[in-house]
Amino acid sequence: MARRIVITSGKGGVGKTTVCANLGVQLAKRGKRVVMLDADVGLNNLDVIMGIENKVVYDVFDVLDGKCRLKQALIEDMFLPNLYVLPSARPLSNAKVSSAQFRHVVDGLKNFDYVLIDCPAGISGGFHRAVSAAYEAFVVVTPAISSLRDADKVLSLLSSYNLQNTGIIINRIRGDMVLRRESMSAEDVARLLRKKPSAVIPESDEIALSASNGTLKDVDGVFSLLAENVENGTHKVLDCTAKYKGFMGRIKSYGRKI
Ligand SMILES: Nc1ncnc2c1ncn2[C@@H]1O[C@H](COP(=O)(O)OP(=O)(O)O)[C@@H](O)[C@H]1O
Ligand SMILES: [Mg+2]
Repeated sequence: MARRIVITSGKGGVGKTTVCANLGVQLAKRGKRVVMLDADVGLNNLDVIMGIENKVVYDVFDVLDGKCRLKQALIEDMFLPNLYVLPSARPLSNAKVSSAQFRHVVDGLKNFDYVLIDCPAGISGGFHRAVSAAYEAFVVVTPAISSLRDADKVLSLLSSYNLQNTGIIINRIRGDMVLRRESMSAEDVARLLRKKPSAVIPESDEIALSASNGTLKDVDGVFSLLAENVENGTHKVLDCTAKYKGFMGRIKSYGRKI
């Protein structure tokens, strides 16, 4: 049976789609059969980040309308044969898909090892649709106060769902700022949310750039570490401050500041 994992957060722009796509790639590299889908049906960020938006023939709406079979709508990744995206490319169709319909589509993906559901921002209809189709959840959080407050709310909301496991992924940590005490550390975030993180991801231009051109890069091995943690239930994370320590580190830190 597929592990169904929703990647969520209260706030938009914290990195849900980035995490979802990179996790999918790394799980597929480990030989797992993975399918990713956008619960923000109509706002097809996932297709874009995976660089497959021009390959869409059928999408989730065609599946729901009975115009094609689920298998026909799946798009295989250009590089990894066991990685698929179920696209949702039609704008303004979001409200038309109920939670039950969405769950029905996800039920049809049971032959995969992993179904990764990219959750829309906010905690309204789209959130419910995404979470109620999943068995596990990750809340993506950044060290910004607004993101932390939202993550805390979302974690308590998630406790009312019947989920087997709820974890956190801390994104956009600036190691140099943490060392200068200008930003909260990953440890601070974890302590405040009372959860061990499954990943600590640095703020990185390379992550942003690779997401925008559809060729995802495993910066500092951080996403393969996340995939390993997801597979094994472990909590090995990157120390984002390490490269700013020592003499050369201080030079790097100075370079980032100017
Ligand atoms: N660790 C990171 N470092 C730098 N930029 C990031 C990082 N994570 C996400 N981003 C950028 O932040 C923006 C929002 O990310 P996205 O994954 O679309 O967020 P969400 O799906 O939560 O709205 C994108 O431009 C993305 O490239
Ligand atoms: Mg997104």
